[in-house]
Formats: sequence, structure tokens, C-alpha cells
Amino acid sequence: MRHGVLVADGVYWIGVNDRVTELFERQWPLPYGMAYNSYVVLGERTALIDTVADAEGMEYLERLEGVLEGRSLDYLIVNHMEPDHTGAIGEVVRRYPGIRVVGNKKTAEIYNRYFSGLGENFQTVNDGEELDLGGGRKLQFYLTPWVHWPETMMTLETGSGVFFTGDAFGSYGALDGAIFDDEMDATRYEDEMLRYYTNIVARYSGNVLKALDKVKDLPFRIIASTHGPIWRMDIGWPVERFRRWAAQEGEPGVVIAVGSMYGSTLTAAEYLARCLTESGVPRVILHDVSKTHVSYILRDAWRYRGLILGSVAYNTEMFPGMWVLCEKLRHAKVANRSVGLFGGASWSGGGVRKLKEFVDEQKGLTLVGAPVEMMGREVKSVADQLQGLAEAMAGAIAE
Ligand code: FEO
Repeated sequence: MRHGVLVADGVYWIGVNDRVTELFERQWPLPYGMAYNSYVVLGERTALIDTVADAEGMEYLERLEGVLEGRSLDYLIVNHMEPDHTGAIGEVVRRYPGIRVVGNKKTAEIYNRYFSGLGENFQTVNDGEELDLGGGRKLQFYLTPWVHWPETMMTLETGSGVFFTGDAFGSYGALDGAIFDDEMDATRYEDEMLRYYTNIVARYSGNVLKALDKVKDLPFRIIASTHGPIWRMDIGWPVERFRRWAAQEGEPGVVIAVGSMYGSTLTAAEYLARCLTESGVPRVILHDVSKTHVSYILRDAWRYRGLILGSVAYNTEMFPGMWVLCEKLRHAKVANRSVGLFGGASWSGGGVRKLKEFVDEQKGLTLVGAPVEMMGREVKSVADQLQGLAEAMAGAIAE
């Protein structure tokens, strides 16, 4: 029997790692796996805070039983209905038939769509409402819609100061034995946390800012997200990052993303990268959209103030991999970025024209310099224009 890990007096972590799944949501790579965190609060009555993606393998249910030590489970708090946290609900409710499932009005709507036969024990709570478990354990519920679904809420256990935040402050990456920030080099998770943010939550950045403002003065001392590390040594670390990312405050630097068929547009990108560096840009990252999954390009586009998109013309339109990137940037509502454009063509062009349409239609993007289109394969034919674009971009991101 494997037990959970003590988070605070009366609060236990019983999460699991998934090191098998290749793609989160069947689309985002998981090179370091994924952690699904779930927690148990023990008062005179007991509560489970969120579940995990599925009950398969039974490790999760064994941990739950181990922490309960023969006690019944009185409540299941559902902070978020996405299946990566509700996949084990069916099994939990079957094992603890007297359990009351707790969520808000919106949670109830979605819960009944997923678990139509398990709805009779649902208990609806309002924003700010408190559930007293006895024994000094009280749960307070704060509705934080769209972080990252409409029903999402956060739950504060007031006795211990543990704040169960759902997806907020979450990260890709399994937990390798260490689950608390002071047990690990937490900076190792920063790239994966930002990639998770941009892939999953970024579209709702306005709601993230509202949620952060709403909960900022609550008396929590431990942040217990449903993904990634538990923060107790430095709770400001994830809060400040999520705030900065939600506000789209880019760091000084430029990402070049390029789509190229035979290498000519890529060669132009290499020249442009060198021009940017010689123009004083402190960080330049070049991604080939045919080599690097869009998940990582989104992450870097969110990190830096400057973004340069380059596309070869593909049958008079932009290169397919670049189209996917632009669609993901649109969907995530990228903004506050200085954007430069370039591309290549052999006959009538079209890649740069389509990129320009994307920038014109996307609110919050500022076109920097003049778009550069290279006809044929000789970079020297546009070297001066690329140099000009690099200098304009260096000036824009320095402002
Ligand atoms: Fe981790 Fe939006 O679910």
C-alpha cells in the first residue's frame, strides 16, 4: 500500500505521474511526462480535491485508501471538469457511494454531461462559500472562470493555508520523487511551465489576470496546482510568472520562425538571425516550423517581444507549417508583439502576402519594418532589406 505525501497538517498529496502518454490533449508533446496532482483533506469529515486522468493501474486509488486509513470519503471537490482531472471520478464515486460531489453551478452543468448517472449527490456552492469539514479544516471556494474552462474554481483550506488552484500555476513534466519546490531545482520546470501556459491557458490570459487579482490577498502559504510542483518555499515564483505571461510582457529577444521547402528561405533566416545579433538583440532563437513542434514555438513567441515570421510561397499561399503556427498564435490571442515578415518565392509569391494578412487581422501585433520577399535563392538580393528589418526590430524591442 502506497501512501500520500504530507503537504500540511491534515492535507496530503496523492497525485500520479504519466510517463507513457506522448501527447497531452493528443496534440502537445510530453517529453518529460505529466503529473496529475490530487489532494486529500482530513478533518472530522474528509474531502478529495480533484482526481486524476484515470484510475487505471490503481496506484491512485491505493494512495487514496492509504491516506484515508479506513475512513469514508465525504466530499469530492471538483475545481475543474476537464477529463485530466475527472477521469477517476466514476471509480471514486462507485467506491464511496455516500460521497457528495462539490462544484459550482457551471460545474454541475458539465458534470451532468459527463456523469449523468452520478448527479444525485452533487452539492452546488457559490463564490466565497465555505464548507466546514470540522477539526479546524474549512474549504473556501473562489470562482475563477476560464482558468481554463468556464467552471474552473480554486479552493482554499483556511486552516493550513493550502490553496488548490487547479490548472493555474501548473506545468508539464512529471514529478521525479521531489514534489515541493524546496526539494528540487524548480527552475528546471520554467520552460515546461511556460509551454504549458501557452499551449493550454494563454487564450484566456485576460481571465487569468482577473483571477490573480481576485485571489491575491487570500491568506495562502502553499500553492497546490493540479500539475507540476507544489510551491511552499517561494509562492511568488509561479504567481509572478503567470502574471507576466498573462499580461504578455515579453522579454528582450526575437524569435524567428521559418517555413522553407528547399532551404533558400531558411538561408535567409540564418542571415537575418546574424543581423539581429549584430544589431544588439540579446536573445535570438530560430525555429524551423518543419522541425520544431508548434508547441515549443508558441512558448518562445510568448517569451520574447520580437517575432519574425518567414514563409516560402507554397502554391501562392504560406507554407503549411507556418499556417499552423499562425493559427495557433491567433487562437492563443498573441498580442503585445513587434512582428517582422520575410519569405521566398520562385514565381508569383504569396507566402509573405498571407503572413501580412495574418498580422493585419490579429489585434495587438505591430508590424516592424517592411516585409521582405526574396525571389529565387540569392540572399544577397535582399541582404540590405534583411539588414534593415533586423535594425528596425532591434530598435522596436529595445523601446
Ligand atoms: Fe489540467 Fe484544463 O485541465
